[in-house]
Order: sequence, then C-alpha cells, then structure tokens
Amino acid sequence: MKQTTDFLKMKQNDSKIVMVTAYDYPSAKHAEQAEADMILVGDSLGMVVLGYDSTIPVTMEDMIHHSKAVRRGAGNTFIVVDLPFMSYHLSIKDTLINGARIMQETGANAVKLEGADEVIDHISALTKAGVPVVAHLGLTPQSVGVLGGYKVQGKSADAAKKLMEDAKKCEEAGAFAVVLECVPKQLAEQISKSLSIPTIGIGAGAEVDGQVLVYHDIITYGVDRVPKFVKQYTNVNEQITAGLGAYVSEVRLKEFPEDKHTFTMKEEELQALYG
Ligand code: KIV
Ligand code: NA
Repeated sequence: MKQTTDFLKMKQNDSKIVMVTAYDYPSAKHAEQAEADMILVGDSLGMVVLGYDSTIPVTMEDMIHHSKAVRRGAGNTFIVVDLPFMSYHLSIKDTLINGARIMQETGANAVKLEGADEVIDHISALTKAGVPVVAHLGLTPQSVGVLGGYKVQGKSADAAKKLMEDAKKCEEAGAFAVVLECVPKQLAEQISKSLSIPTIGIGAGAEVDGQVLVYHDIITYGVDRVPKFVKQYTNVNEQITAGLGAYVSEVRLKEFPEDKHTFTMKEEELQALYG
C-alpha cells in the first residue's frame, strides 16, 4: 500500500496520482482491481448512494459505516475518508475525536476536510496527532448554501489570489495533499507549481498532480446528468436496465427458471415421501 510520502514522490517524478471514490464493498473492490492509487470515501455518498440532494445531511455514522465496507473491499489501497458537514468546526477537540474515530473504527489512512480559514488550526492539530489530512479547496460542496450553488470558483483575480494563499496555508498546516474542485485550469496549474504537496484536481484541468472522479459518474451508475468535468467511460445504467428488465419479463413469461436453475429429489426419496 502507498504511503503519504509516496504521493509526494509521485509529484516530484511527474507521475499522476489517480484517485477514485468508493462507498461500499463492490465499488472498493473495483477501485483496487483498477489499481487506483487512492480511494476516497467521499461524502458525495449522500448524493450518489443515499439520494440526498446535497452532502449536508451526511453524518459521521454514515461515513464510518460505509468506510468500513470500503476497507473490507480494498485491503491494499490507501483510503481517504471525508469528514462530514460540521464534524471539524466546533472545536479542535471535536475535530480530533472525529478524526480518531475515522482512523480507528474504519482502518482508513487519512481524512479530508473542506476549506481553509477557520479550519487551518484543525488541519494542524490533526496532523500533529497523527491523522494525515487532505485539504479540499475551490468548490467546497459542504458550503453550497454559502457559495450559492455548485459554481466554478476562483475566476476573479481576487478570488484566485485568496485560493492560492489558502492552498499555501493548508500545506503549511501539514496537509499532505490538496483537492482542487472546479477551478480554472490556469489557477490550478499555478497552485500546483507553487506547492510542494500534490494537488488532486476535479474540474481543475490537466496541469495538476492527480485526478479524482466520482465512481458513479465514471461508469454512469444511478446518475443521469453529470457535470462538464466528468468523462463517462461506460454506462452501466443501460446494462442494469436491460438485465433487470429481462429478468422481470422472463418470470412473467414463465421462461425463468429453467431446469438448469432447479434442484430435484431422487425418485426413491419421492416414493418414500408420497408412497
Ligand atoms: O465527496 C467527494 O466525492 C469529493 C470529491 C468530489 C473530491 O469530495
Ligand atoms: Na466530499
């Protein structure tokens, strides 16, 4: 399994870090089989798996329950778990308790949290306590209500400057990587060049040190619309619809099950039963 220092080396060697989300045993197995460098148990869980319309309702219990299943499916892959809404804001003590729960109860390797400003001290406290941290800047979905929607961030010179400063602060606080979500490619490139820790982009262009996408978006599973930054590599919705539809109709047409799907009793046992 890779370690935090391996990701730093990958940046230095210009080899891209590939991260994919996973939320349960099968998706974790798929991610490990595909040889992703890192799995993210994202709080996007709330939207793509639990059917909420944002990540805000996701709880610590949700993250822990799903992360345990991901660890069971991917025993040899570095796992990052999102700290959910409001689980790292109240105080340093609460943040450390929640970070410890993720590490101890799920067997994850790191946590991820959104924002800079008020959480910088919390990034440093977690790191000092032995919890590796991935920062997350740009579009931070837990703040969707404050940002006023899911929009590209850092487009103006002022906003871009603030983002560059925030990224630097996250690095100084001890984060070992930073996710950049929905930012212009020029800004993402500039941040990547100015940091020694790797940047992992989603909707941040190609000049970053790694990429992350949501499992369900990559394979078109249970999602209909996907954002501009997603590439849909396959469409399992179509295969699932076809497979389940065929099952339903074959049962109704009495075509399933066939003999080969069926168990039988020996003739003498039947004699003994019915005489
Ligand atoms: O929750 C998530 O899936 C994420 C990624 C989109 C970076 O935070
Ligand atoms: Na997230």
